[in-house]
Amino acid sequence: MKTSGGSDAAKRRAGESAADAVADGEVVGLGTGSTAAHAIREIGDRIDAGLDVRGVATSFASRELALDAGIPLLDLDEVVGPDAPGIDVAVDGADRVAGGDLIKGGGAAHAREKIVDAAADRFLVVADPSKLSATLDRPVPVELLPAARSPVAAAVRELGGDPVLRRAKRKDGPVVTDNGNLVLDCDFGEIDDPERLATALSTSPGVVEHGLFVDLADEIHIGTADGIRIERP
Ligand code: A5P
Repeated sequence: MKTSGGSDAAKRRAGESAADAVADGEVVGLGTGSTAAHAIREIGDRIDAGLDVRGVATSFASRELALDAGIPLLDLDEVVGPDAPGIDVAVDGADRVAGGDLIKGGGAAHAREKIVDAAADRFLVVADPSKLSATLDRPVPVELLPAARSPVAAAVRELGGDPVLRRAKRKDGPVVTDNGNLVLDCDFGEIDDPERLATALSTSPGVVEHGLFVDLADEIHIGTADGIRIERP
């Protein structure tokens, strides 16, 4: 799992708080990253204590953790569609939180995370205070088809961004996502109109998904040094 800032104790409080908001009988979207991992483990503990829920993983990593925690899993195809139960709640981390807007994708899982988080009736973000900011001011991860690297990089530059191919740490060459694609980390400085940028990125040919999650979050569970704070944007 990639590393990120913030204390593990604060991440654990955030994850446990969101896991405690999951009710019996619900279908739960299981996010990716070190903070969501705490929620997954807590949901597993609650299942051991009698909670009846089923999960939908957002990545190879969250599926592995969920299996380890004993959470029964469903595919997206089984939960979304006519006569399907739907996703009641999703619990997921973020790299930046500005009000109800997020930057995600530090673990390159944002494409499937967005599908699951957007489909959920309630989307609970779990974060430590290091993720909070007045504006979205981190590079935006953009997943793209490998063949589209140059056109997508050109489109990002046209939008005022600086695209950098994400490189693997223990493999020569680029990070390859769970979907077999590449990631450009695109620095736009402070993003003052996330919705406009999100639309522009989404409509660039070759882009699979970007890490701007605009107005999707219902609750932000923030683990602090000594407690928990829940914000409803
Ligand atoms: C995965 O691609 C990301 O969207 C994560 O949800 C995000 O990077 C938060 O991860 P941490 O909880 O490890 O900081």
